[in-house]
Amino acid sequence: MRNICVIGVGYVGLVTGACLADLGNHVVCLNRNESKCDNLKQDIMPIYEPGLEEVVRRNHAAGRLDFTTSYDEALKDVEYVFIAVGTPSGAGGEADLAHVNQASEGIAKRLHQPTIIINKSTVPIGTGDWVADIVRENMPDQGVEFSVVSNPEFLREGSGVYDFMNPDRIVLGSLDPAAAHRVAELYYPLQAPIIITDLRTAEMIKYASNAFLATKISFINEIANICEALGADVTEVARGMGLDQRIGPQFLGAGVGWGGSCFPKDVKALAHMAATHGAHPQLLRAVMEINYDQRKRVIQKLRDILGGFRGKTIGVLGLAFKPNTDDMRDAPSIEIIHMLQHEGAQIKAYDPQAVETARRLLTDVEYCDNPYAVAKDADALILMTEWNEFKQLDMMRIKEAMRQPILLDGRNIYQPGRMREMGFTYRGMGRGYNEAV
Ligand code: UDX
Repeated sequence: MRNICVIGVGYVGLVTGACLADLGNHVVCLNRNESKCDNLKQDIMPIYEPGLEEVVRRNHAAGRLDFTTSYDEALKDVEYVFIAVGTPSGAGGEADLAHVNQASEGIAKRLHQPTIIINKSTVPIGTGDWVADIVRENMPDQGVEFSVVSNPEFLREGSGVYDFMNPDRIVLGSLDPAAAHRVAELYYPLQAPIIITDLRTAEMIKYASNAFLATKISFINEIANICEALGADVTEVARGMGLDQRIGPQFLGAGVGWGGSCFPKDVKALAHMAATHGAHPQLLRAVMEINYDQRKRVIQKLRDILGGFRGKTIGVLGLAFKPNTDDMRDAPSIEIIHMLQHEGAQIKAYDPQAVETARRLLTDVEYCDNPYAVAKDADALILMTEWNEFKQLDMMRIKEAMRQPILLDGRNIYQPGRMREMGFTYRGMGRGYNEAV
């Protein structure tokens, strides 16, 4: 059992803290927000993340997991401190490091025993060195030893607990290999390959991985648009490509594009870093442009069928940026709904988890309790997020409720032929062959 402090209780911080406690360590999660902390003490989660509540509850009850707002309490007798705070996009696309700065100062002021500071937040290349400088400048006793290790997190929202417990790899970067090996010990129970490298390389692995995955999606979305123009079906193309082991089937789902708290921010930040250091990130720029154009294609497709949106009611199924989360950060739904409203459409919407979040971001939307209520008197329906519960809807009931049975399948989850047999005017994303039949 090791004594660990985790600063930040967002997706990364809370999943990391809860899972490290589940592996038998003693973990204190530090967060400055009193009400969030009080809720966590009562096992009330600040986010919707499947399976997380159970892990928190179990370890909290066993006395291995605790929550506090006090740096003094959190850092008492710890050997490892994880920084897992937010790094939102700044004005020019650069990552905003205010929270990392604050956490580093907070740690430094209470550094009384040898400590390993592990950074899990996604930070610009070189931040590890910068954290070490902040700590050195602010520590009261210059004789205390500390090391900084970069340990990027690759978990996906919606499957964070599973991803933490079943990682493809653990990446550790430090100028102090002994410290990196000590962090590696925390992960030995997971039996994953461990890569130990220098700080900057570890930080870069995180950006490069996210940028590559975003590139894969933008690539297939570009292919989808070409499929539409030339009469091919992108879902079959992706299947045919994905079976090649050098390509792989994952992240080849064409649709309304990527959103969320990571890809948009990280691709932008990497492009910003590249540009400010004399590199020309042309591919990254294209990857972002294709993604944002994809949202506009939804509007164009519907406009082509409806002729315009004034006086029309559009139903939206799914608001979260992907299934199994209530997160709406940079969700395609936000921009698409804004564009539809701007062109005069009335919007009705339903999401299994994200409605509460959506209410704060999207006004003038009629939020419904279920998909059938969304369909009622709608002139068109957009499937925006592929929640499982949308895959087996009673589509006859949906069709009969609608004013016009127009279905835009933004994630290609329905069978085009089947939908047309039922009488829908069906459009997918990149299903040119199927558009024709
Ligand atoms: C991502 C990375 O996967 C994870 O490793 C990193 O730590 C954080 O960023 P996350 O944002 O939770 O995780 O979601 P992910 O499942 O990767 O999906 C990101 C976006 O891509 C979603 O909007 C999703 O709808 C979209 N996507 C994903 C596609 O459009 N097509 C696909 O084939 C896959």
